[in-house]
Amino acid sequence: MQNFVLHLPTKILFGKDTIANIGPETAAFGKKVLLVYGSGSIKQNTIYDQVTDSLASAGLTVIEHPGVKSNPVLSHVREGIKLAKEHGVEAVVAVGGGSVIDCAKAICAGAMVDHDVWLFFKGKKGVKAKLPLTCVLTLAAAGSEMNGGMVITNEETKHKFGTGNQLLKPEVSILDPTATFTVPANYTAYGAVDVIAHILEFYFTTTDPATPVQDRFMEGLVINTIESCRQVLAQPDDYQARADLMWCSTLALNGLTAAGLGLVGFPMHMIEHSLSALYDVPHGAGLSVVMPAWMSWRAAAAPAKFAQFARRVFNVNQRDDSKAAQQGITHLTNWFRDVGSPVTLTELAIPESAIPKIAANALALAKIWRLKEYDPEIIASILSTCS
Ligand code: NZQ
Ligand code: ZN
Repeated sequence: MQNFVLHLPTKILFGKDTIANIGPETAAFGKKVLLVYGSGSIKQNTIYDQVTDSLASAGLTVIEHPGVKSNPVLSHVREGIKLAKEHGVEAVVAVGGGSVIDCAKAICAGAMVDHDVWLFFKGKKGVKAKLPLTCVLTLAAAGSEMNGGMVITNEETKHKFGTGNQLLKPEVSILDPTATFTVPANYTAYGAVDVIAHILEFYFTTTDPATPVQDRFMEGLVINTIESCRQVLAQPDDYQARADLMWCSTLALNGLTAAGLGLVGFPMHMIEHSLSALYDVPHGAGLSVVMPAWMSWRAAAAPAKFAQFARRVFNVNQRDDSKAAQQGITHLTNWFRDVGSPVTLTELAIPESAIPKIAANALALAKIWRLKEYDPEIIASILSTCS
């Protein structure tokens, strides 16, 4: 167990009929707010009306910034920053999934500086202040509702970079599982894949040999994510299953699983971000292709943790660590297929000939994230096993 500091300042309101709190909770930070949301799902499922009624009842003046796209882009963030500055907003309200919340975080930070917001993502500037941020989560996946991360794509350079800062954690996040009832099967599955990836990035990259508390916690989160996702796909309005999946997605990337693991990395995300940057692939769909490939590559050199994962999560009964590891990866890959998430580049309509370009693109993020062992050859060799 390594030393750690864990600071979880985000106030979470979880459960049925919590969306009506967004007005009073936001009014605590100011009277003029920027409302950020996506391409319209909240207008089809009444969440928009619930949120705007609550903001109006709290006496707030609302400037809207709709149109966040999945895999949010820098140009839309810049427009939001301009709006926030012009109107002198005092807080930002994000209503959506990870794309909307990340876009809102970038606006919150960018509104407080004169330099371009992209410098945060290139690691050239650090976040020193942000506008207060309140969220209504509508999709269980990214965990952005309770963490300090944000991921934005620069459409000009075709880079999808993520950066993090403690200050970026939302002040308040409202998690009402009924808000996710309308998430379609594909994005329900992609979200569950993303949750599992967040857990396994830390589970497999920690170098600490003795993390029994975190291991069991993470293994349990993976098992619950698999079970609740399966139930949600069978019955999309199953409240309990949607609630379990939503809470798993928040716990997977709010800092709790990584506490005590020491230095960990995000190599599967480093590679996937290139698929999303270059081909606009849904984040979770890219991960279900990259994860088995990276896991097989890593397990070949160090099978023990992958064998533990196979035995504890998929009840693999195989004494040989290498064989057990591979069986566990096969079980996970089969589960990705079962829930309709792709497992090959071909299924993503990405040709094998694109692998060198993807590997070169990923290297830029590998450098910023200090993932020193990855060069284009290694990334290409990993991708060649999932083409
Ligand atoms: O645009 P709208 O109308 O909101 O439609 C969205 C979008 O088309 C739709 N949707 C969301 N809630 C819905 C719904 N449709 C029906 N009913 C609802 N209740 O779902 C689609 C996907 O939404 P999106 O926000 O893109 O998905 P997700 O939550 O998976 O977020 C993905 C983004 O999160 C980033 C990813 O890189 C990606 O850009 N991540 C952020 C992280 C962080 N901040 O810590 C970490 C993650 O690893 C991830 O990288
Ligand atoms: Zn992710």
